[in-house]
Amino acid sequence: MAEALILSGKTVSQHVYTSLKPRIDLLKRSGKTPGLAFILVGDHPASKVYVNSKTKRFVKLGLFSETFKLPENIPENDVLSLISDLCDDDRFHGILVQMPLPKHMNETTIIRTINPKKDVDGFHPENIGLLVSGNPRFIPCTPKGIMRILEYYQIDPTGKHVVVIGRSNIVGRPISILMSLKQEFSNATTTICHSATSDIPYFTRQADILIAAMGVPEFVKADYIKKDAVIIDVGINRVEDDSEKGYSLVGDVDFDDVAEKASAITPVPGGVGLMTIAMLVENTVEAAERLVER
Ligand code: GUN
Repeated sequence: MAEALILSGKTVSQHVYTSLKPRIDLLKRSGKTPGLAFILVGDHPASKVYVNSKTKRFVKLGLFSETFKLPENIPENDVLSLISDLCDDDRFHGILVQMPLPKHMNETTIIRTINPKKDVDGFHPENIGLLVSGNPRFIPCTPKGIMRILEYYQIDPTGKHVVVIGRSNIVGRPISILMSLKQEFSNATTTICHSATSDIPYFTRQADILIAAMGVPEFVKADYIKKDAVIIDVGINRVEDDSEKGYSLVGDVDFDDVAEKASAITPVPGGVGLMTIAMLVENTVEAAERLVER
């Protein structure tokens, strides 16, 4: 039986970095090295790994970044005043507060403190409003990365039924909005399934493009999908095993089960995760270009 086409985040992200190089060089020549401030609160193990991977990419591309590591029990006001200082600091064109935050913090209050022009995550209400109304400034990195993978492989969502599992502010909700925008390479009919959906497979079996973004290891099996569907796996879950590390990474899709039935699929690792980083770099470059134009 034919195996699905692998939609490689490695290939597409390399393509993005190559096309960003001249823009980065131009900014540097004018004395404006794109810079990003990472704020990492607490000891969430996956968050540390993500910020580390993002930082490494910034170093590799000769971009500027600094990580502000704050203790889990820091008062919210201290985080807010750090963000205010970073908003006024010209070395940083972008500010990223890694999610999730400790329970005593209000995510919305923190995000609203970021200058929307430095909100490279696209989480500020002003940026969400611009996205919903079809005039995006910053598009959240993971949804933007998914669109870029589809574009690279010429998989056009126009007229297709896109089913998203998961309604997070970071992935599920913004990708459903992007997919339904009246523009080229969007124009899809969209359905969002979530924890209160009574029969998720009923919807997923209708999907031409299925986006799994709910954080449940290997939730999507072959009998959840339509033959020849395109499968985008956003999940990065640690499952314990006997390896040296003690765990391995799996997606929200059971890759081996689904790969023979799907027409195309993103792997984990090596799929959407790499695109999230590439789009963060792109958004930071865009932020620097806009702030330089002022
Ligand atoms: N946590 C998981 N994904 C993301 C992301 O794209 N941005 C931020 N800030 N936190 C995250």
